Amino acid sequence: MSLTDALNRPLRDLRLSVTDRCNFRCVYCMPKEVFGPDYKFLDRSQVLTFEEIARLARVFVGHGVRKIRITGGEPLVRRELHKLIAMLAEIPDLDLTLTTNGALLAQQARALKEAGLKRVTVSLDSLDESVFRAMNDVDFPVAKVLEGMEAAADAGLWPIKVNMVVKRGMNEQSILPMARYFREKCYILRFIEYMDVGSTNGWRMDDVVSAAEIVRLIDAEMPLEPMSPNHVGEVAERWRYKDGSGEIGGVASVTQPFCRDCNRARLSAEGKLYTCLFALNGFDFRPLMRGGASDDELSAAIASVWRVRADRYSEIRSEGTIALPKVEMSHIGG
Ligand code: GTP
Ligand code: 5AD
Ligand code: SF4
Ligand code: SF4
Repeated sequence: MSLTDALNRPLRDLRLSVTDRCNFRCVYCMPKEVFGPDYKFLDRSQVLTFEEIARLARVFVGHGVRKIRITGGEPLVRRELHKLIAMLAEIPDLDLTLTTNGALLAQQARALKEAGLKRVTVSLDSLDESVFRAMNDVDFPVAKVLEGMEAAADAGLWPIKVNMVVKRGMNEQSILPMARYFREKCYILRFIEYMDVGSTNGWRMDDVVSAAEIVRLIDAEMPLEPMSPNHVGEVAERWRYKDGSGEIGGVASVTQPFCRDCNRARLSAEGKLYTCLFALNGFDFRPLMRGGASDDELSAAIASVWRVRADRYSEIRSEGTIALPKVEMSHIGG
């Protein structure tokens, strides 16, 4: 057992953001009024190189990390991402996965698989073009995202998970069509409660559709039964169709917070370590690495951050916390 295990919730899941840029502008993540043409994204010198990311990842693995998820922004807009995947794939026994909006997946799926990526999660909020467009603020056809998923499945990136953020008044009517479609495909559809991450999406509790409400809606048409979690700290509650035709998930981070088992750390594209999705500040690894720190020194820095970690934002969410400044999700990854 590592030092961090002994002192706190274990560190198991590392999310690596490789860019803060995205080719979409989802209303719940990067509203275009804020992330418009004048928004200052990180420039290249501020962003960690693949060598720096892979080196840090190995040090994290020494602390017990067993799953690495590549995120962004949109990770597939970072050039030659497959090269980073190949470096990370050399680490043994790692669940290596990636979250993407799917726009560039069809053209990259095979190279990602060949580099050693195991599976993917694709964000998709509706099958209906006009709802999709209203939520993601891009002129991009749903069919192309579906094509990306197909290409990933054909390449052997399996299982495919689909993340649908549900926002009241925007895409509740898409819940049942999504459930029917992905049940046929045997992709695992997960319904995500809309969260107050960042400070720009104008979140209100009234906009949240609870995972319980969604499960009731689906169960009425396609009966469901609960499944046990794959592992401690899994964020999605799992359900399967009683007729054996597949599985769905509900991520109830607002109505049923799961901070107690939270084993996730997030590294931003510029090298800051955030111990919570709702944190404001992160520990900056870039100066350490670029100043010649040894692996032992990096490891000691991780331990010193994780040892004092007391995050449980979702459990203490209140009128007071909602207004606090927080890092943007596009900066640290979902
Ligand atoms: P799998 O191993 O594929 O099941 O990964 P995962 O369940 O960690 O999946 P993913 O990263 O796709 O998370 C699903 C969604 O849950 C994210 O997009 C977030 O909206 C939410 N989420 C993930 N991690 C956290 C977390 O630490 N805190 C909170 N509050 N929400 C989270
Ligand atoms: N609430 C819930 N999930 C969000 N994501 C981004 N912003 C939010 C939000 N405000 C998640 C989505 C998407 C992933 C990249 O980030 O699940 O699939
Ligand atoms: Fe881009 Fe994903 Fe954020 Fe949407 S949720 S704006 S696709 S990073
Ligand atoms: Fe973990 Fe923070 Fe999410 Fe709670 S709110 S589950 S502590 S990331």
